[in-house]
Amino acid sequence: MEFYIGCFLSIVVLGWWFLCKDSNLVEKKAGIPRGNSGWPFIGETLDFIAAGYTSRPVSFMEKRKSKYGKVFKTNILGTPVIVSTDPEVNKVVLQNQGNIFLPAYPKSIKELVGKSSILQINGSLHRRVHALLAGFLRSPQLKARITKDIETSVKGCLASWSTVYPNTINLQDEVKKITFPILVKVLLSVDAGEDLKVLQREFNEFIKGLICIPVKLPGTTLYKSLKAKEKMLKIVERIIAQKRKDGMKKTEVEKGPPNDAVDVLLGEEGNPNATQCLPLDFICHNMIEMIIPGEETTPTTITLAVKFLTDCPLALSNLREENMELKKQKAESDDEYAWTDYMSLAFTQNVINETLRLANIINAIWRKTEKDVEIKGHLIPRGWCVLASLTSVHMDEKYYDNPYQFNPWRWEKISVVNNNCFAPFGGGQRLCPGVEISRLEISIFLHHLVTGYSWVAEDDTIVYFPTVKMKRKLPIRVTPHNKLDSE
Ligand code: HEM
Repeated sequence: MEFYIGCFLSIVVLGWWFLCKDSNLVEKKAGIPRGNSGWPFIGETLDFIAAGYTSRPVSFMEKRKSKYGKVFKTNILGTPVIVSTDPEVNKVVLQNQGNIFLPAYPKSIKELVGKSSILQINGSLHRRVHALLAGFLRSPQLKARITKDIETSVKGCLASWSTVYPNTINLQDEVKKITFPILVKVLLSVDAGEDLKVLQREFNEFIKGLICIPVKLPGTTLYKSLKAKEKMLKIVERIIAQKRKDGMKKTEVEKGPPNDAVDVLLGEEGNPNATQCLPLDFICHNMIEMIIPGEETTPTTITLAVKFLTDCPLALSNLREENMELKKQKAESDDEYAWTDYMSLAFTQNVINETLRLANIINAIWRKTEKDVEIKGHLIPRGWCVLASLTSVHMDEKYYDNPYQFNPWRWEKISVVNNNCFAPFGGGQRLCPGVEISRLEISIFLHHLVTGYSWVAEDDTIVYFPTVKMKRKLPIRVTPHNKLDSE
């Protein structure tokens, strides 16, 4: 019996070896980057995940890059993947001329976001929706309007955190009380109240299913997530139907500029140049799906900025000095803050750039190829995935001296404009439409934190898998400066 099992296993192993040998030969000829496909079925998934749990998740890429070059092949999660750690190749993938690269997400995410989500649609519909939303989110009018809301929310939260002193607050969770309401306000004009409460509660349930086993039976995480989405949809549908009804009663002049992302998409109904109106169902689903990329990213960046500043007192002191100067000017002139005041603080922007580089909130961008494509002599065959590793570039000492050091001063000599080596918000066709609104939120938060408060953070470490976050949610004790003065 053992003999037959032995023979059978030998045949399987030999067969697999011959297959790999043959496919390696074909791939070599065709110009597919070198690399290792790993074990049958699991490929190099275990190595990939294991690296994710270390303090240097980029070690998976670094090891292979030194062996095979900046672009290499591997096999992760049952899929052949070409990994690029080359900023020029990443740029071509992100620019996506000719619509060759389609977004590629795990099955659970695809199931939850649906086919008509901005995260999944392609071609002309995607370009149209992306342009509408990005145009609105980046507009000076929105930034001017939302600045007051962000300030009120930041000041309220900071004051409430200091009341629990000497107890700690978990910054990673608490910051969401600022960013979530702002996001929902920007998308749907929902203010504090019951709708906001339910949306926040159901959204927390909804995102649990983003990374899970994709089984949709009652009781499973995916099933509960879909149910939570249904509850959110009901609220969003009601809000949008009301907005539409109100809008229909108004003339174009009465309507004025859009208040939120829904207005922008509904506005296509009255646009004579729009070839087709966007269906209501499409708008409702997309409003929920837009929350996904915005909800976790900005609070995590704020949390990590506080962590890096805690560990670098010199940077904190420079940041405080710059922001105190602005606060003094504003107090003397009795002027309100404009969004441009916050964004023009050079060192503060350098702190944000350095946080985004070092934190690598979105570590890589996954795409799937529609047809064979060649970039810089590397063939990416049709149907393969491409992983454009942003982290590998951000942590490459060829582009950044001492890449693991938090050094905001490096940005005094580096430009962020047209810089292929700095892409925390992606690039090309799918460049994050929330880029400016999130930078504004972070700037306003840092300003009011460092000019009005001091804090002490407990020990905590950054974890990188499956997403970047603080292991203990960064517990901090916040004290107002006026309290310190009176002590
Ligand atoms: C620090 C905060 C943020 C970071 C680091 C970030 C990062 C990114 C990245 C890397 C992408 C590109 C994904 C891809 O190419 O597949 C992206 C896309 C996107 N982001 Fe953000 N994001 C942030 C905040 C936000 C916010 C606040 C919003 C909402 C207002 C938002 C909405 C989106 C949307 C809708 C997309 C998809 C765009 C498309 O596929 O056309 N993001 N983000």
